[in-house]
Amino acid sequence: MTQLQRVKISALGTYVPPRLLTNADLEKLVDTNDQWIMERVGIRERHLVDKGVATSDLAVEAAKKALAERGISPSDLDAIVVGTVTPDMFFPSTACLVQHKLGAKNVWGFDVSAACSAFVYALQAGAQFVATGSHKKVLVIGADVMSSIIDYTDRATCVIFGDGAGAVLLEPAEDDSVGLIDFLHEVDGSGGCALYMPGGGSLNPSTHETVDKKMHFVHQDGAAVFKFAVRRMASLCEEILQRNHLKGCDIDAFIPHQANKRIITATADRLKMRPEAVILNIEQYGNTTAGTIPLAMETARQDGKLKKGSLVLLASVGAGFTLGATLLRWAY
Ligand code: UT7
Repeated sequence: MTQLQRVKISALGTYVPPRLLTNADLEKLVDTNDQWIMERVGIRERHLVDKGVATSDLAVEAAKKALAERGISPSDLDAIVVGTVTPDMFFPSTACLVQHKLGAKNVWGFDVSAACSAFVYALQAGAQFVATGSHKKVLVIGADVMSSIIDYTDRATCVIFGDGAGAVLLEPAEDDSVGLIDFLHEVDGSGGCALYMPGGGSLNPSTHETVDKKMHFVHQDGAAVFKFAVRRMASLCEEILQRNHLKGCDIDAFIPHQANKRIITATADRLKMRPEAVILNIEQYGNTTAGTIPLAMETARQDGKLKKGSLVLLASVGAGFTLGATLLRWAY
C-alpha cells in the first residue's frame, strides 16, 4: 500500500449569529422553565439566525475566519466539504453555495449528511484526500440552521437546538508528531425512527398535508436517543482509546458533540477523563448539530486546552444513528 501522508488541522474558524434565544424567551413560547432546561439538558441560551440567513451564510463566515487565521485566500483551497442536516436547499449542495460566496476558484466540493456526526464524518472524508497526496488544502465545515426545522410549539425539541458553524483547514503535517491519528465511525440505521424529519424528501414530498402534519420539523424520541448516546458514545471512545493504547486520563481535550450535558458527563465519567479536559459549551450554544464540535474546539482553544501536541478526542452520536470518534494531536 502507498504510504499515506499524516494530516493536520492547520486553522479553525467559527461563527454564530448574534441573536439570542434564552430560556426566559422559551418560557414565553412553551410550557417550560429555566430550571428544567438547565438540569435536564444544560442549556441557558442559543444563537438563532434572522430570517433570510441560511446555513451557507454561517458556513462562509466560519470559513473566512479559518482562512484568515492561516493567511491564505479561498482560491488556495483544493476542496470544500460541508457537513449539514439543514442545507440551504436540497440542491445545489451547500458546498457549491459556499464555494461561490467565498469566490474560491478551481475548487470542488460536496455535502455530507450525517446529522450530529456530520462534522467528524466530513473531517475524515476531507482528510482522505490530503492523506493520499491528491489535495494539499481541504476546508471542512460543520454548519446548521436548526431553527429552520424546529417546531417552536414543541417543548421536547425547541429548547435543545441552536444555529452555528465551524470550519477547519486540513493540510499535510510535517511529521507524525501532530495531526489526525485514528478514527472510528459506525452507523446503526435501526435508530432512524428515533430522530428524523419525515417531510420533504422522496418518501413524503411536500404537500399541504405534510405541512399540516408538521412533517417538516425534527421529530425525536428523546429518551431513546439519550439511552443510545450514553451507552454508545462511551463504548466507541473506549474502543478507539484501547486500540491506541491510551486511557481516558491521557486525553488533554475531550471535545464531544454538545447534545445534552448529562450525556457528556456520563461518557467522561465512564472513561475516567480528567474533569478539566472535558469541553462543554452547550450552555451558551445549545445543540447546533454539525456545528457543535468545531464550536467546542474554539472553546477549548480559548480555555488554553489546545496547544501543539495536545491529545484530543472528538466524539459524536446523532440521528441515523450515526457515531463517530476521532483521535488527534493538535498541530499548532
Ligand atoms: O443531537 C442529536 C442527538 N440528540 C440527543 O442526544 C438528545 C438525547 N435526549 C435528551 O437529551 C433528553 O432525552 C431530552 C433533553 C430530549 C429530554 O430529557 P429527558 O430527561 O429524557 O426528559 P423526558 O423526555 O423523559 O421527559 C421527562 C419529563 C416529562 O414529563 P412527565 O411525563 O415526567 O410529567 C416531559 O413531558 O419532562 C417533561 N418535559 C419537559 N418539561 C419542561 C419534556 N420537555 C420539557 C421541557 N420543559 N422542555
